[in-house]
Amino acid sequence: MTRICFVCHGNICRSPTAEAVMRTLVEAAGLGEVIELDSAGVSDEHAGDPPDRRAVAAATRRGLRLEHRARRFIAADFERFDLVVAMDRDNLRALKALARTAGARGKLELLRRIGPSCEHDVPDPWYDDDAAFERVLDICELDCAALLARLRPVGA
Ligand code: 4NP
Repeated sequence: MTRICFVCHGNICRSPTAEAVMRTLVEAAGLGEVIELDSAGVSDEHAGDPPDRRAVAAATRRGLRLEHRARRFIAADFERFDLVVAMDRDNLRALKALARTAGARGKLELLRRIGPSCEHDVPDPWYDDDAAFERVLDICELDCAALLARLRPVGA
């Protein structure tokens, strides 16, 4: 079993989107029993909230369902997950500050560095327009496919 947690700031836009995109890919690959997915935020501002309605609308246009309640990522999560995938470098910095051991730090990844792009961040769509939410989905589709390809040879 490989357990992966996607992490953004509020856990209402980017990380639940990445989780849903990855879940679709994992299930299509028949790996739903061996790859477990979750998402969380480095902030608890939106804890308990459903995903942002703009993220839900963009996901729905691609046939994806965002079903999640926001929660804050806590230090104990480093023990639960094998991989903790940050959406941007601010999120990664916050996670590094929470990681108390070399083992925990070794689980940290930046989503965009997994894929083929030379970028670092999934841009925060919160103050942006609908196109920004489409872009989040485009990035997640590309980089989650790369993440799955990396996991697949070892049978997850
Ligand atoms: P997310 O987007 O980190 O992708 O969930 C944001 C959601 C809320 C805020 C910022 C980013 N906020 O400042 O409340």
